[in-house]
Amino acid sequence: MALINHPKVQDVLYWYLNGGFKVLDSVVRVLKQSNMLSYKLPELMPGGFFVATDVTCREIVHNPVSARFYRIEAWKSLSSSSSPPPQFKVYRDGRLVKPEELPIQRATWLGEEVTGEEYELIWPDGISKVGIFNASPLRNDSGEIIGSICTFDDVTQIVHMKRELNAHRLHLQRMVEERTEELKREFEKRETMEREVAKLERLNVIGQLAAGLGHEVRNPLTTIRGFLQMLQSKTDLHTYKGHFDLMIEELDRTNSIITDFLSLAKNKPTELKRQCLNKLLANLFPLLEADAYTQGKKCVFEPGDLPNLDINTNEIIQLVLNFARNGLEAMPLDGCLTINTFMEGQNIVLSFKDEGTGIKLEDVLKLGISFFTTKENGTGLGLPMCYSIADRHNAQIELTTGPDGTTFFVRFPKPLEVKTNP
Ligand SMILES: Nc1ncnc2c1ncn2[C@@H]1O[C@H](COP(=O)(O)OP(=O)(O)OP(=O)(O)O)[C@@H](O)[C@H]1O
Ligand SMILES: [Mg+2]
Repeated sequence: MALINHPKVQDVLYWYLNGGFKVLDSVVRVLKQSNMLSYKLPELMPGGFFVATDVTCREIVHNPVSARFYRIEAWKSLSSSSSPPPQFKVYRDGRLVKPEELPIQRATWLGEEVTGEEYELIWPDGISKVGIFNASPLRNDSGEIIGSICTFDDVTQIVHMKRELNAHRLHLQRMVEERTEELKREFEKRETMEREVAKLERLNVIGQLAAGLGHEVRNPLTTIRGFLQMLQSKTDLHTYKGHFDLMIEELDRTNSIITDFLSLAKNKPTELKRQCLNKLLANLFPLLEADAYTQGKKCVFEPGDLPNLDINTNEIIQLVLNFARNGLEAMPLDGCLTINTFMEGQNIVLSFKDEGTGIKLEDVLKLGISFFTTKENGTGLGLPMCYSIADRHNAQIELTTGPDGTTFFVRFPKPLEVKTNP
């Protein structure tokens, strides 16, 4: 017998329609008289509904719309309370729902009126359907519950579209965030590059100045030194030997300042020789240690495994002395300066870590500008010289600074091909 002709289903439908059209008795009467109620109307109804035909909820009969939703034949029974249970799982707000928590069971067993609850059904083949359910207990004339009815709206398409839109929105949001980050990075890179270019331009100007200065001042100095030496050797001026020595010493010092200045010249050719940086540092270390000792500070050298690299010995000594002296000068008594060498990807890194109080942000931007100094007796040429030397070695200078101290990193590119020293 077709379940539509099941007397319980008909009773229930009648009860449902009678309730639905409570104020319109005439509508129910004419539907009943025309047999529409029994046969055609349930088929014609556009909404999904299903009915628990007894209080066990084991038999739940589905109209054609509901059957399509539940992927069964029209007017067949399908219930989460029967065994074996249906293949789909039911979720509410992402949580797996037990059969006794479903609207029709709650209406039948607890007499609950359920309205507007959204559930998602997921089948093992991945199909997902979403409905908004209402349920209501069905009672006989004496008020006893004899079953229940559940109606629902299939909102699968809307929910799926909403999810797709959400996923799309998130994707767009992520794309915007990524692009913003990229632009920020590009902007920062550009700023750094602009600073580098400005620094290089300054170095170039200094270089030209230095070359001019060297030419103009060194020659007369050499002449004066020569005459002083000549006069020094005269026996009648012997009593002034101390004065001559002092004058010659001062001239030599002036000459060495000019030499330093000249080394800032950007396009000065530099002779590079492949050698071991650790060996160069180890030779220099006693000098740095003595320097630290006289200031009541310490200096440590921690060499790492390095390949040989192309460097100009004198220039790198100059660079090491400048960084080490700055580090030592920045530290209080007992502070320790650590010099490290290590590999980092394709770079050979030389670092100077001090235990000073760090460099103020506004000063960090001025590092490398000639004559920038915060020291009473500083010339502000140490770091510009380091930048200039690093530049000639294709090396990059970077730093980290904070209240615990400053670390300067000099990153040399690893030489490409292996050359052996003759
Ligand atoms: N390790 C460091 N810790 C704190 N400040 C530093 C450090 N290194 C450099 N500075 C700051 O950078 C400034 C410039 O340094 P730079 O070596 O160019 O010149 P200077 O040390 O002042 O003088 P000099 O020409 O004698 O080296 C310093 O005056 C100091 O303010
Ligand atoms: Mg210095």
